[in-house]
Amino acid sequence: MSTSYKIAVVNGDGIGAEIVPAGVSVLKAAAKKHDINLELTDLSWGAGYYLKHGEFMPTDGIEQMKTFDAIYFGAVGLTEVDDTLPARDYTFKVRSELKQYVNYRPVKLFSGLKSPLRDKTEEDIDFVVIRENNEGEFVQTGKTMYPDQPEGMAMDTSIFTRFGIERIAHYSFKLARKRKNKVTNVTKSNTLINSLAYWDKVIAEVAEQYPDVEYNKMYIDNASASFVLRPEVFDVILTTNLFGDILSDLGGAIMGSLGLGGSGNINPEKEFPSMFEPIHGSAPDIAGLNIANPIGQIWSAAIMLEHLGETQASQDIIAGIEHTTAKGNLTKDLKGNSTTTEVAESVVNYINSSELVTS
Ligand code: NAI
Ligand code: MG
Repeated sequence: MSTSYKIAVVNGDGIGAEIVPAGVSVLKAAAKKHDINLELTDLSWGAGYYLKHGEFMPTDGIEQMKTFDAIYFGAVGLTEVDDTLPARDYTFKVRSELKQYVNYRPVKLFSGLKSPLRDKTEEDIDFVVIRENNEGEFVQTGKTMYPDQPEGMAMDTSIFTRFGIERIAHYSFKLARKRKNKVTNVTKSNTLINSLAYWDKVIAEVAEQYPDVEYNKMYIDNASASFVLRPEVFDVILTTNLFGDILSDLGGAIMGSLGLGGSGNINPEKEFPSMFEPIHGSAPDIAGLNIANPIGQIWSAAIMLEHLGETQASQDIIAGIEHTTAKGNLTKDLKGNSTTTEVAESVVNYINSSELVTS
């Protein structure tokens, strides 16, 4: 009997309408090959939905999401919609209400791709950014007063809780045990002497429970330079919501393009569905042209299948990506001339033609 999963598919806006269907075609091919039954339901939410209905999702949107096993998502945001809304009313809302407190963002150089870091190889660029996804700098508690007056003022507050820090730290140390056994806490406790000093203290306490895992601490400014100069020192990077957001785009860039990065917003306990999306946004500047790189979206499908326990289907997708990049089937951002659809077709063809490996 085949396993069945209910997946909510949210294209969102901009290039979402192109890369999500591309990712779905790959997902379907992998599912078919591994006898997995996927029930896909399109939810047309996002900034486009807001223009028609005045909200990013229906009032019971989160309740609807809870009925699925996972959410496969593109990105939200349109130039004609206030850009303070997409995160507040969609991305952070889903991540926090569904307790997706881990933002898992791998960085890895695929075969055949040249990193802009000219001397670095596939062995040097292979790490994962674990971004705390529910608290920190992005909780959006604050206030703006008299913005157009001489006495104008604006304030945002960060929130770090022992509970929140401990759970993301435990996740990171456990993940390191399955990888190269090293955790780097990227912080800035020398200047954020309250919030991030506390972050460091709690992480150091958790680190003591994993004496077999190498643990070190690095400030965000040094970490940014190290991404470029010596990415080989990293395995699992444990960092805050804001720092993780910035570092993962830099991670995308050292892989060769922002369009390559996949991610999972994960609720490890599986109390609620997790959401899988590329690291980038809706790229309105290239929307509708069939030139967006679908690899980050496709990689997110692999991360989703891994989360669901379908490891072989997940690995098939990664192998399909590697095969495609190695063959030079690349979109414009990687100096190729393949379309979004052609890159996805190349991954699908690989999956369909490669042998079924069973263990
Ligand atoms: P962006 O990530 O959409 O684009 C930045 C640059 O990277 C653009 O030049 C774009 O063309 C390029 N790019 C991004 N993805 C690409 C791909 N797959 N293939 C080729 N090139 C790609 O970030 P930007 O421009 O800052 O934001 C655009 C919109 O996306 C905004 O409304 C923003 O709020 C939203 N956004 C949404 C996110 C989400 O839904 N999780 C995350 C980040 C931004
Ligand atoms: Mg970002």
